Amino acid sequence: MMSLFVLPAARRLSAACVLPLLLSAAPVFAADLRHGEDVFAQECAECHSVREGKNKKGPSLFAVAGRRAATVSDFAYSDAMRQAGIVWTPAALDAYLANPRKAVPGGKMKYDGLADTHDREDLIAYLAGLK
Ligand code: HEC
Repeated sequence: MMSLFVLPAARRLSAACVLPLLLSAAPVFAADLRHGEDVFAQECAECHSVREGKNKKGPSLFAVAGRRAATVSDFAYSDAMRQAGIVWTPAALDAYLANPRKAVPGGKMKYDGLADTHDREDLIAYLAGLK
């Protein structure tokens, strides 16, 4: 319980001095799901719903974690995404969300990427809980 309150405060300190602490205390510092949900609302919700079967400009992200790319049956993916051969592991999501055009060249997600590592971590933890 404590860690949920300590973490946002810790993040305000410089990343350089907090990171080693976070790594060494990894099990104590859980990802901040509420922050992940906020990041989703700000960055992704314009184009994605987390409701099963609800596509917007992008496909539904319900249960996206662990599934193969381009498998929402009624969404028209780009050829690039259909042929990417990606499985949405946390690492694959991290690479795609950091730089969609680099991870899937020719893909049609018009999003420049989420630069902040912590934002991506919390967002991916939030996405992993959608099932
Ligand atoms: C401007 C609209 C837009 C925004 C903003 C956007 N996306 Fe997308 N997203 C898309 C589109 C369109 C696709 C389909 C890409 C393709 O077919 O190449 C997609 C595809 C994806 C996929 C692959 C899904 C699958 O079924 O294989 C994931 C994962 C994803 N987006 C996550 C996100 C996340 C998380 C964010 C927020 C950080 C985000 N997207 C922001 C439009 C968007």
